[in-house]
Amino acid sequence: MERRKFLGWVGVGVMASSLPVVIAACSGADETAADDQSTDAQATGESTSVAADSTVREDGFQSFGTIEELDEKVTILDKEAGVLVLRNPENKQISAVNPKCPHQGCIVKWDAEEKYLDCPCHGSKFDAAGGLLEGPATEDLSIYEVKEEDDLVLVKLS
Ligand code: FES
Repeated sequence: MERRKFLGWVGVGVMASSLPVVIAACSGADETAADDQSTDAQATGESTSVAADSTVREDGFQSFGTIEELDEKVTILDKEAGVLVLRNPENKQISAVNPKCPHQGCIVKWDAEEKYLDCPCHGSKFDAAGGLLEGPATEDLSIYEVKEEDDLVLVKLS
């Protein structure tokens, strides 16, 4: 075998044998990111929940949890869908907002003591329906149409 051909085959062999290591390293990174998110949510005490049946119905609404769950937790956050459902403990009104702060995109959280949505990054505040109370944000949170049906909380995202 010529020297050049031999070296070519050795190169292919080295690349093929290192491929599983590269794949394992990449999949480990994804698991780490998922673990970080989970740990992050636990550390901040956010209520994370994905509805058991989150398929979009013919009328465009999809379930994000139950009234019972909302009464218990006050908020249901689905970061992936970009929805925060909230039941105002004072008047029992249900609202659904995009939890991304319009200032720079941080995720707002319900402050149970002060009774407003608070942005942890720069302190913007929003009422339970997403209305701007205090900046630096200059806009309300985006809101979604929401309704309850039987015990389900239904939100229309588009
Ligand atoms: Fe919310 Fe800056 S990102 S106040």
